[in-house]
Amino acid sequence: MNILLLGSGGREHALAWKIAASPLLTKLWCAPGNAGIAQEAECVALDIADHAAVIAFCQTNTIDFVVVGPDAPIAAGIVDDLDAAGIKAFGPTRAAGQLESSKSFTKALCRDNNIPTAAYGHFHSAEEAKAYIRAQGAPIVVKADGLAAGKGVVVAATEAEALAAVDMMFAGGFGEAGAEVVIEEYMEGEEASFFALCDGEHALALATAQDHKRAFDGDKGPNTGGMGAYSPAPVMTDALCAQVMKTMIEPTLRALRDMGTPYKGVLYAGVMVTADGPKLVEFNARFGDPECQVLMLRMMSDIVPALLACADGQLKNFSLRWYDDVALTVVMATKGYPGAYEKGTRIAGLDRAAKIEGVEIFHAGTIASGDWILANGGRVLNVTASGKTVGEAQRRAYEAIGLINWPEGFCRRDIGWQAVARERAKR
Ligand code: AMP
Ligand code: GLY
Repeated sequence: MNILLLGSGGREHALAWKIAASPLLTKLWCAPGNAGIAQEAECVALDIADHAAVIAFCQTNTIDFVVVGPDAPIAAGIVDDLDAAGIKAFGPTRAAGQLESSKSFTKALCRDNNIPTAAYGHFHSAEEAKAYIRAQGAPIVVKADGLAAGKGVVVAATEAEALAAVDMMFAGGFGEAGAEVVIEEYMEGEEASFFALCDGEHALALATAQDHKRAFDGDKGPNTGGMGAYSPAPVMTDALCAQVMKTMIEPTLRALRDMGTPYKGVLYAGVMVTADGPKLVEFNARFGDPECQVLMLRMMSDIVPALLACADGQLKNFSLRWYDDVALTVVMATKGYPGAYEKGTRIAGLDRAAKIEGVEIFHAGTIASGDWILANGGRVLNVTASGKTVGEAQRRAYEAIGLINWPEGFCRRDIGWQAVARERAKR
């Protein structure tokens, strides 16, 4: 079959790498893609926000299946438009995708279905929001309601910080996303990412991962899209995974089905493991980036039938096989990220680095220019490795990074620290 993948990040490179290994594939296209994806797929310079252009491309090239990587096209209704044109797609409709694109939608759904999450208030004006903060006290969490590239959240240690965050959001600090805010109780615990495939009725648990959201070592510095990840997340025991399926994923699927907007695609639950059990931090309507990179490295089964089963409502009785090895990925970003950064710097040594045992390098913001790979974004490379232990995967990833020559880039040196500390404690 002919498949079109939408997106251009490390998540999409990992998906392209996995889809390209499927015996079901005739040809893989990717729009717009990046220099790494170009090794797996034919990249096309389509504007994926132009749904008519995407549909026309699918018709011209007899695309059988479209796989949507990022959140923005989901929120823009690409799956609805492809459906209407009779083109099968992996991903939720715009209405079901509100689980990610509207925090207030998800908070109301949790409340109505007894899904464990932080207590909250939803406000359209700064004055009401501030009154709530003064009544609750700190620590407290202030969130822009809409999509803000994972950066619309302020975890405020003091009341003054929370009040300032409200002013910043209503002053347009996150654009349209901040026109409404959600204010939440601060939850204390260890965070993990949980992924499940969904076909509207049934859910199939995939695997867990842990992300590192802060820019610098020791979980310091500003929040980013994610600086590294590993899978599985040791904090998520089998019992906790079963609890997340039963108390979060399944009730959410039932609720959306009953609303007439069944959820198909991958559902990503950000979970806080608190002293009172797992609580939902947020839902995302897509794979995590960089979590997807470690999931793809660990998945043994062909991914294409699983993605098709989501679109076709055939997940019941479906199962996937996984490698026993753990996987870890380190994000290399351009210096300055998540703030302003330069584009167009040269990266060397990738071929040598990729030869290290167990290592796969997924590209995020890269572009090819002649024989050179140039940095073309904030998050640029995902140096991913498998191993028998997190410690081994971590050693391999950093060994590969040592062979990459890119003076304008940086990475965290401590990806996996929580899991490595657990492994040490066990020995
Ligand atoms: P979100 O975009 O909702 O995932 O929030 C980004 C990050 O902020 C999360 O990954 C958490 O680390 C943190 N966070 C969000 N909500 C809360 C909360 N209610 N309590 C504690 N930390 C939170
Ligand atoms: N790594 C976090 C996210 O994809 O939202």
